[in-house]
Parts: sequence; C-alpha cells; structure tokens
Amino acid sequence: MNNRFVILLSLFLVSLSSSAQISELSDKDWMLETETMSYRIGIRGGRLNTFYYGPKVEGEEKSTVRWNEFPEVPVRGVGAWNSPLVEAVFKDNVRDLDLKYHSSELLKEEGYDVLRILLKDSYYPLSVYACYRVLPNHNLMEKWLEVANIGKRDDILIENLQSGAMWLPASLYELTHLSGSLGNEFQPQTTLLTQGVKTIQSRDFKSYGSSYFAVRPRGEHDEFSGSVWFGQLLYSGTWRMDFERLSDGALQISGGIRFWDSWLNLTPGESFVTPKICFGYTQNGTSEVSQIFASYTREVLQQGSKHRPVIYNSWYATGFDVNEDQQLAIAKVAKEIGVEMFVIDDGWFKGRVNDRGGLGDWTVDKNKFPNGLKPLIKKINDMGMDFGIWVEPEMVNPDSDLYRAHPDWIFYFPNRPKTLGRNQSMLNLAREDVFQYLYKSLSTLLREHNIKYLKWDMNRHLTEPGWPSAPTKKQREVRIRYTENLYRLVDELKKEFPNVLFETCSSGGGRVDLGMLSRMDVAWASDNIDPLDRIYIQYGYLSAFPANSMVSWTGGENWHDMNYSLNFRFDVAMSGVLGIGNNIISWKSDEIAIAKEKIALYKEIRPLVHNGILYRLASPFESTHSILEYVSPGGEEAVVFCYNVSEKIDVSTRCPIEKKRLCFKGLNPDGIYQVDNSDKKYSGSYLMNTGIDYSLHGICKSKIIRVKLLK
Ligand code: DGJ
Repeated sequence: MNNRFVILLSLFLVSLSSSAQISELSDKDWMLETETMSYRIGIRGGRLNTFYYGPKVEGEEKSTVRWNEFPEVPVRGVGAWNSPLVEAVFKDNVRDLDLKYHSSELLKEEGYDVLRILLKDSYYPLSVYACYRVLPNHNLMEKWLEVANIGKRDDILIENLQSGAMWLPASLYELTHLSGSLGNEFQPQTTLLTQGVKTIQSRDFKSYGSSYFAVRPRGEHDEFSGSVWFGQLLYSGTWRMDFERLSDGALQISGGIRFWDSWLNLTPGESFVTPKICFGYTQNGTSEVSQIFASYTREVLQQGSKHRPVIYNSWYATGFDVNEDQQLAIAKVAKEIGVEMFVIDDGWFKGRVNDRGGLGDWTVDKNKFPNGLKPLIKKINDMGMDFGIWVEPEMVNPDSDLYRAHPDWIFYFPNRPKTLGRNQSMLNLAREDVFQYLYKSLSTLLREHNIKYLKWDMNRHLTEPGWPSAPTKKQREVRIRYTENLYRLVDELKKEFPNVLFETCSSGGGRVDLGMLSRMDVAWASDNIDPLDRIYIQYGYLSAFPANSMVSWTGGENWHDMNYSLNFRFDVAMSGVLGIGNNIISWKSDEIAIAKEKIALYKEIRPLVHNGILYRLASPFESTHSILEYVSPGGEEAVVFCYNVSEKIDVSTRCPIEKKRLCFKGLNPDGIYQVDNSDKKYSGSYLMNTGIDYSLHGICKSKIIRVKLLK
C-alpha cells in the first residue's frame, strides 16, 4: 500500500467514525452523539436503562461514562417508583407493566441514524419500541415510543403514554419555560426546581406558551454561556412536561400527550405512535438553544423553508366588513408600497356579517362578493401580488347551513349545555365525516381559486369534549384522535397544494408548536400588535421558533396610550415575517413614503432575518432594550434591530465589559467591517469585544444597523 492511500484510507475511517450518530459500544450498550452532546443508554438485567445525557464524551470514556442509572422508559409496574411514561391495564385488571429487552435495529431516515429498541412485557401481549433519531449537525435528538397490542383476543387500556424521559445528574436546577395568555404570549418564566414536580401543560388545544423548556444549574449561566438541557414536544393537542426533582437532587424530565380525561383503548393488532420530543444539551447558553430550534425547524421540519412574502392582512383595517371594491382599493395602495401577498382575513364567506354566523360554510358570501372571489383574485394577481385567505375550519356557528344540517357534528354531552365560545362550537374532527367535509370544503376552495396563502385560525377553548356516537371505549380517545385528524387534514391539503403557504393562528399565538410548524409554514404570534408589547412577545417567541415563522404586522394598535411612530412600528414588525395591517387607504403621502422605504429595506435584509443566525444582544425582560442580531452563517453580514422599551439610567446590553455598548456576535474576528454607511472601518474582533456606542435614546425608539464584511 502506498503512503498516500494509507493516509486517504485513515482519513476516510476517521470521517466515518466521527459521523457516527449512534453506535453500539458493546453488546446492548448504545452511545448517541451529536457534534457536542452524548447520550448513553443500555440494557441491564434485561431492562433498558439510561446512564448519561450531557457534554460530548470522547475516546475510551464513552463506554464507561455514567452519571446515574435510571429506567429509560419508566413504567407503572415491577418495583418502579419513577414518574411513568407508560401506564396500562390488561383484561384481568392487572395494572403492572414489566418491559424486557427483546431486540434492536439501527436504520437510516433522511440520512439520520434511527435506533429502535423493542421491549416486550414479560407476560402480557404489549410491546413498546423506544425510538431515537439523532440529528448531529443540529445538536438535537428526537425520541418517541411506539406501543402495540400484539395480542389476538383482548383490548389493552392505555391510561398514560408519554413520549420520553431524560435524567439529569444531581444539582440544583432552574427551569425557564414560556407561559402566556391572549395578547401576552411566550413570556419567559424562570423558576427554581425544588423537590417535587413542576408541570407545565395545556388543558385544551390552546397554549399561548409552549412546551419549550431550558433547564440550567442555578445561577451559573447567561445567554451565551453555561450548560442548558433543553427540548420541546412536536405536538398541538393537550400536552404536559414534568420536571421532578428527586430527594438526591437528580432531575427527571418527561413529557408527551396529557392524558387527563383521556385514554387509548388498543384493540388486538392496534398500535399508537407518540408525538416526538426533541431534546439537546449545550454549554453555550440559551442563545444556542434558540439557534438550534431555528435551524431544526427550518432545515429538518420544514425541509428548507419556502420564501415568505411581504403580507397585507385586512383584519385590523376592515374587520368583517369586506367587499370587492374596498379590498381592491386597499390592494392598490398595498401594491404601491411593495406588498407581495394580499390576504383577506375573516368576513368573506357566506353569512359572515359578524362573529355570530357563517363558520362552517366555506363558500363566498354573494352579498359581499356578488361575482365570487375570482374577479378580485384576478385583479390582485394582475397587479403583481399573490392572494391569500382566512379560514377557521375546526369551528361552526349555530347560525350556519352546516350546523343546521349536522347539529351532532360538534363536541357535546347529552343532557348538558352546549356552551359557546365567541358564539361558536367546535367540530369534532375525530369523526371521519367531519374530516371528509372539511377536506372537501377546503380542497374545493383551494382548487377553484388561485389562493397562495391560507391563514388557519382556531378561536375557542375546548369544553364538553363528548363524542356520544362513538363506541364507549373510544369516547375518551377523542382529543388524541382529533389531533391526528387535524394533522392528517393539513398534511393532505399540503400534499395536494404544495405551493400554498399555511399560517397557524389561534386567537393570536394560541397554537404555535413544532407539531404545527412541521406542517404549517408560519405562525401568527399574537393579536397584540402594539409594538411595545410585541417586542416582548417576539423575544420570547424567538427562544423556541425561527424568525422566518413569526408573522408580524404593523398596525394602528396602541394599547398603552403611546404615540408610536410608524418607523417604530415597522422596525418591530421587520424582525420576523413582515405584514402590514393598517388601514392604508387613509395613509397620507408621508406615511406611504415611510412604508415604501421600510418595505424596500426589508426586502434587502429579508434573507438575513429569515435564514441568519440569531443572537439576542439584549433582553427586554432584563434590561431597557431588546436587541436582535441576525448574522449570515459565514459572518459576512449582519443586521441588528435595536428597540428601547424604556429609558432608565442602567442601560444593559450583553456586551461583556461595558453594558452601555453594543457588542456584535458571530462576525469574523479578523475581518474588516463597515457599519451602516460610515467611512470608519472596524475589525470583527473590535465589534465583538469592544463594541460600538449604543447611541439610541428615548422610549419606543428603534434603529436598524447593518454590518458588512469588506475584506
Ligand atoms: C383571531 C385572529 O387571531 C385574528 O388575527 C383574526 O384573524 C380574527 N381571529 C378573525 O376573526
């Protein structure tokens, strides 16, 4: 063998071993690895246990690393005392599970390693696959369970089935999660995890927060440094995440579907796949967590996100009162200022004069649009804009043709009131006839019209989740089956209409999660478009989801009696997917000029905002500013949004030394940069370490700084 060949061969072997995502260290002992994290599991005494979840371990230590030994799939049964992932009841009323290792397989899925470990009950016909997918370049793993009734005769009742558990070594931890309410979504909350269980959860299909979690050792961290164990669920139904600190200080994190008032009745041969939970570990603070979730959503879940246009939305301008002439008049101005997608919100369909009627009848209202929607869409297309529309498929008003024909299609219990929310009931999408009706209505709408954007709303809480026509054993599956059919509906529509962009909305940001963002392209973060409030909401949103999913409009909203400038409103909306929500026909020439200039600038910086790496240089929750920097992956270019939320003397950016300066991140230290159009040049290391003056004064003032690499 000549030397060159030996070198090439060893390089090849090194690259093979370093790209290993899952390896079997020894018999039935596995190491799961990303670029910076390791996760070790293995079989002991016939059971699947977990040993390690933390910083990457290299070399020989891989096969010995262990900071605790706990069940990887804790169950209710056989001496186990941990919070269970699986709770089953067999025909003879035995409620005790005993899962033993059976076999394992290593597969590839979209180029990623997938490990499936089959566990079987030692007596009853129940099998559980513990499944893992490792995404090394995203520093993330996914896990989920697949449970099957492999018997021939009897049903098995599943009273609880979570997606996965992770164990952290003994320490004192803080949990940061995102809580929220209507108009106040995605608010970060940090709490100490003392002995006992802290649960975050959703009770129905709305959350306003998210299952996002970031767990850090108490006090030893900031945005850019320190250990973080993090994750979130890919699910839009009812969910829960539990954080249980044990008496010795170890922490069990587990999560999945919330089984409150729910069960699964598995008939012989039937199986169920839980939603995935994705999880990771970093030593680089919560900043890296937000970057990981952004790249995972864009590149894995959305497989390279589609281009997002500048949107106009009619809701705040015209409400329910829409018609062809008026929308065309608005569209003319929208075109002039640079809008690319013109969206008619609520009010366009049959009988929809206010929120008391119409939901369910997804055909055009002939009183408002006597010629249908086609002429309007054509004129909008002729102007050079695409057309989008609002729907709320899962709902029905009692005053609708649909309800009159099928009053039994809603959730209800006999002998109980059918309560309304926003004058509407919720269709029971677990039913196949409801699924078929919605598929037909929506696919017809999309097939017959040149619609390129669908805003999918959902505006009420779930109450009385009764399904009286289902077999008794299936009735309590209703929430789970609803969510399955919701996903199926969106998936089928996406398959048939791949060029339509979908927006998830639920009275603002009530249903934003990675289950939705695996299917829908973008999300409405909040109905609160007061720019000051939005700064906080958007900061929280960006902890868990990417900027190119965050739809943000300008508007006339003013929740705090502040005299916001149009510049400020634009600057806030431009750090996501820009939309215009104002009544633009009443705009004066100076407002039109500002809008034109801002939208033109936005189109220039859009690739950075949508695909750049986000660094949050100041938090409005911790300081008087929010500063968001989006940097191109190679550090050649950056755009920084600076917002003053109040003005106190203690300006506090995240500059390492001088808190009143602005220190960039992600630049090339040796590169020479230009900041805006100034003649002065700076080295990347100066901009990152010494920083420039943060010269922005005044409450609700903003500015956008652009940085370019010259050489
Ligand atoms: C609630 C949404 O959050 C709003 O943006 C708007 O679409 C209304 N519904 C329409 O009814």
